[in-house]
Amino acid sequence: MLRRFVSGFEMAVLLAVAVFVGMLFLNSPTKPPGTPAAVVAAAGGIDGGELYGNKCAGCHGGDGSGGIGPRLAGKVVAKFPDPADQIAVVTNGRGGMPAFGTRLSADEIAAIVEYTRTVLGG
Ligand code: HEC
Repeated sequence: MLRRFVSGFEMAVLLAVAVFVGMLFLNSPTKPPGTPAAVVAAAGGIDGGELYGNKCAGCHGGDGSGGIGPRLAGKVVAKFPDPADQIAVVTNGRGGMPAFGTRLSADEIAAIVEYTRTVLGG
């Protein structure tokens, strides 16, 4: 009786640990840093970070460090001195990069691009 209780308890602990470790791996790569209120306000109230988390983080990483898609963090401002050029890539797509012009409004794309240039670090 006691043995059964102990092994059942151990199983539950093992399961809890497995779920916890699994969640660490599942959550951390796709959870982008939050958007500061000033950046949201400058984008007309659109939260670029939330959109980035939903639409871009799966390929570019939650912190913009890359994955299926190339690294964006610390790179995009140097690569696209004019934000319009970066907006064009997101709107029209390029190679393995999907076009978002039909799925997001121009304001939403501008907010995401601004988020990657400021919060994720140009
Ligand atoms: C299905 C995966 C995927 C998704 C989703 C995705 N991207 Fe990309 N992205 C890519 C790939 C792959 C490239 C490289 C394209 C190439 O080689 O021409 C890329 C390239 C880019 C570039 C150009 C980077 C450079 O160094 O030239 C930018 C900017 C970019 N993506 C932003 C975004 C944004 C913003 C989103 C969300 C709205 C997004 N991507 C969603 C896969 C993705």
